[in-house]
Amino acid sequence: MCGIIGYTGNKKTVPILLEGLRTLEYRGYDSAGITVSEGGRLATVKSKGRLSDLEARLAKSAELMGSCGIGHTRWATHGEPSDTNSHPHATENLALVHNGIVENYAEIEEMLKGAGYTFVSETDTERAAKLLDMFFAKSHDPLDAISRAIKVIRGSYAFGIIFKGQEDTIYAVRKDSPLIVAHDDEGGFIASDIPAVLKYTNKYYRLDEGVIAKVTAHGVSFFDEKLSPAEQKTETIDWDIEQAQKGGYPHFMIKEINEEPEAIRKTLEPRIKDGVPYFGIEALDGEFLSQFSSIHIVACGTAMHAGLVGKAIIEKLARVPVNVEIASEFRYRDPILRKNDLVILLSQSGETADTLAALRHAKAQGVYTLAIVNVIGSSVAREADSVLYTWAGPEIAVASTKAYSVQCALLYLVAIRLALANGKLDNEAAKEICSSMLSQIPEAIESALSLDKQIYDAATKLVAAEHLFYIGRDMDYALATEASLKLKEISYIHSEAYAAGELKHGTISLITDGTPVVAVTTVKKVCEKTVSGIREVKSRGAFVVSVCSKELSEQYDIPCDEMIVIPQVSELLYPFPLATVLQLLAYHVSALKGLDVDKPRNLAKSVTVE
Ligand code: F6R
Repeated sequence: MCGIIGYTGNKKTVPILLEGLRTLEYRGYDSAGITVSEGGRLATVKSKGRLSDLEARLAKSAELMGSCGIGHTRWATHGEPSDTNSHPHATENLALVHNGIVENYAEIEEMLKGAGYTFVSETDTERAAKLLDMFFAKSHDPLDAISRAIKVIRGSYAFGIIFKGQEDTIYAVRKDSPLIVAHDDEGGFIASDIPAVLKYTNKYYRLDEGVIAKVTAHGVSFFDEKLSPAEQKTETIDWDIEQAQKGGYPHFMIKEINEEPEAIRKTLEPRIKDGVPYFGIEALDGEFLSQFSSIHIVACGTAMHAGLVGKAIIEKLARVPVNVEIASEFRYRDPILRKNDLVILLSQSGETADTLAALRHAKAQGVYTLAIVNVIGSSVAREADSVLYTWAGPEIAVASTKAYSVQCALLYLVAIRLALANGKLDNEAAKEICSSMLSQIPEAIESALSLDKQIYDAATKLVAAEHLFYIGRDMDYALATEASLKLKEISYIHSEAYAAGELKHGTISLITDGTPVVAVTTVKKVCEKTVSGIREVKSRGAFVVSVCSKELSEQYDIPCDEMIVIPQVSELLYPFPLATVLQLLAYHVSALKGLDVDKPRNLAKSVTVE
């Protein structure tokens, strides 16, 4: 979603804003703009399109030399991507950038029309800017104007604002959309995400909801809703700037797939003590877990697909029923939540609006909530009853890869812990699984990475496809759902994941000569059945890419045109190398098509609107 950056300090602001916006490009955008405080006036330059379009426009206008400014990349919600709809939105008195949605913008517009305001854009943000302008025109006090405006605005927002008359100061406030504030020796920053400031400092404040930040070249101060001074906690991130860069890889996505072995190690090792899962959280380590008679895993997109893997492993090991729920549906369908239910929220960013709303709904029903999140201190992490962090490091590519693998790994540990708590696994059996996870998963992923050339060759056969199917059963089907999402989001090839046994109930009518089908077979107990499904599509002309375990490839004659064999690992652990192989397949198809792998069209990394 939209990216916000602001800088005020000793340096020229334009290069800092552009560089910051570049690090936020991964969030997805369709226009960009900046406002710079320039000799007592606020100069705004904005453009539809990529940052290069904004740079071209800046190159044509008089050079902006100011050392305070705000910048924005916009992911359109209200109004098409256009120059006029781009941010910042400026008035006589101020310039404002916004990430989120002002839900009552129509009501605000009516109020403003009554006060004589007119509008040039279709955006909710222009209404917010003019509301602020109206209050500022009365008091000439930025803090007073902001506090009045946020009492009127309903919806989600992260705002960065510069006011006329205080051109060296940036104000910021947020609700349900992320925003951080940082400072180094030479100036202050606001940003949507840490990579935008990482070059200058690894210390930052994650702004609490409703707290107003006042950022100057000399420091930062915070104010609560009564405009009394407020305290905010400094946080330190242990990523370094290299981790947020491509490090020699052509794309972030392939870099992040290659980081999976390390991410898994970092996630698992500290969570296994005396051979069994240990989270260091009272509620998760003791008997407390045995009270839960059913579990809801709630998430969106890829994280929801990790939930399907979680369901399979929790039900298998702990025999506790699990519903996997799409977060955007969960809250509105009024789910039946009982006292003994556990709600697990999965989210890489921890800022996904649908997941956050689902979490709040579950909490309001009095149900215990556990968040599994990658971004430290994010909203989901802060609001859940307990949080387990997936130590994947920054994930920049829009298509989630390593975050999915570590979510699955943590869900395995939760499954083992639950199974121990309710007596479905004894200590020895739990130890055995944990030990094989530690010793085998990173290595198995390394082996999967070494199949890259073979996967690339298979990808060359799929680039021309318009439609494609993934099939599998049981855990393989769970993996197929994510493989299919990965392919369609970055290659724009329409694909569907089907439980192999379900094809014959309708969808097989779509299989004709040459239809590509990626068949996944690693689950022994259903392999024979999956192979029958593969025969059914093969005999109707499908072009089959078989992705199968070494063991099953030796045991069964799998009819196919291409075969990718996953090196041997304990059966329970195949999802990990399998995920890597399927991610690589999607990656190569997209790269072969010459597409923007890391920033697929229309998509945003962190979806902060419902
Ligand atoms: C796809 C992808 C999305 C996210 C989804 C949830 O590759 O990344 O489907 O998984 O938007 O995002 P988080 O995990 O940040 O809540």
